[in-house]
Amino acid sequence: MNPFSSRTPTSLQPNRLSRRVEELRASGAPLIDLTLSNPTRAGLVYPTREILAALDDPRSLSYEPSPKGLREAREAVAAWHAGQGAAADVDSLMLSGSTSEAYGWLFKLLCEPDDAVMTPRPSYPLFECLARLDGVRAVEYPLLEELQWGTDIASLERWLDPRARAIILVNPNNPTGTYLKRDEWTRLQEFAALRGLALIVDEVFFDYAWAADPRRVSSLQTPHHALTFTLSGLSKVAGLPQMKLGWIHVAGPEALRSEALERLEWIADSYLPVSAPVLHAAARWFDLTPRIQSSILERVFRNRHALQSALPPGSPWRVLPAEGGWVALLEAPRIHSEEEWGLSLLENHYVLLQPGYFYDFEREAFLAVSLLPNPGDFEAALQRLSGILRPD
Ligand SMILES: Cc1ncc(COP(=O)(O)O)c(C=O)c1O
Repeated sequence: MNPFSSRTPTSLQPNRLSRRVEELRASGAPLIDLTLSNPTRAGLVYPTREILAALDDPRSLSYEPSPKGLREAREAVAAWHAGQGAAADVDSLMLSGSTSEAYGWLFKLLCEPDDAVMTPRPSYPLFECLARLDGVRAVEYPLLEELQWGTDIASLERWLDPRARAIILVNPNNPTGTYLKRDEWTRLQEFAALRGLALIVDEVFFDYAWAADPRRVSSLQTPHHALTFTLSGLSKVAGLPQMKLGWIHVAGPEALRSEALERLEWIADSYLPVSAPVLHAAARWFDLTPRIQSSILERVFRNRHALQSALPPGSPWRVLPAEGGWVALLEAPRIHSEEEWGLSLLENHYVLLQPGYFYDFEREAFLAVSLLPNPGDFEAALQRLSGILRPD
């Protein structure tokens, strides 16, 4: 008998596309990877000396465990949010090793085994896995293309699992790049409060808006009728995924908010995951963040512009409108499925794109293009695809 729990997948075999990528790489094929999501591998210019100098702090030689995370580091997180126009309360912040870990803590806080969390579709594919690791079910609700990938709150009830404990929102959503709007936020608060559901809002890409829009809100902004958890981390905010620092901000009706914080502190005390050097360096990394963010945004704009320019008038392909993030969505002609497109671009042009099924789109055929790769690679990949992007 298999001794392993169903929290890990039945099969760990890579899918067809990943297998083919491995084979082509092994054979030395000149692949260009337009799925690259790791900013530290994208040839960006980081203030490397300052990043490393921040780690050189004698306070890191002593161990002072604190479940919420060092106050000075929490103050730096709150100050960052304040600079972005969103008020975060230092005492309502909890630090974790990453946003992904923060999800695990929230599932432990809110769910009994086999309870459900409502997850948006299409969206970040890790939710199913994170929920399963905590013995929780990820149940999808749709984001509607006709609402610019917003939530149709009027029909949300229909999708709600009887054992749902929380609704997850991604602001802006990955990969559709659409932000939560003020009226949508108010209605979601009312919806959740009325049903005793918590809201978990992932804002890792919040700072990467491509243009201003006064209708947009951060979940740090009121109203907070429902228990509300805002998640983010240095992985995207400062383009430093290797440093492993995430956070949760808790808001909501006072009694719920303070009990949630106490219980989260109890959970965090069992792990104490953030290392002292990272806690002491955090404030100085936040000082570097505007520079890192502008170099990422400059990259994103340049590649997005190149992508749009690669589609001449009359092209059967289109770039979907979006508001921010690190990804563009391409809609391909439906003569092939997403998987066939993925394989064909790989086999015939040595260009790797992410088929939309990875994010669980309701219809075909979408391909996600990372806007992070260095522009030389990005433009070379578009050049290779120029024949198929042209009108017939
Ligand atoms: C929407 C979203 N949330 C969370 C994460 C993971 O963040 P972290 O590195 O802090 O775990 C990602 C990573 O791509 C993401 O796209």
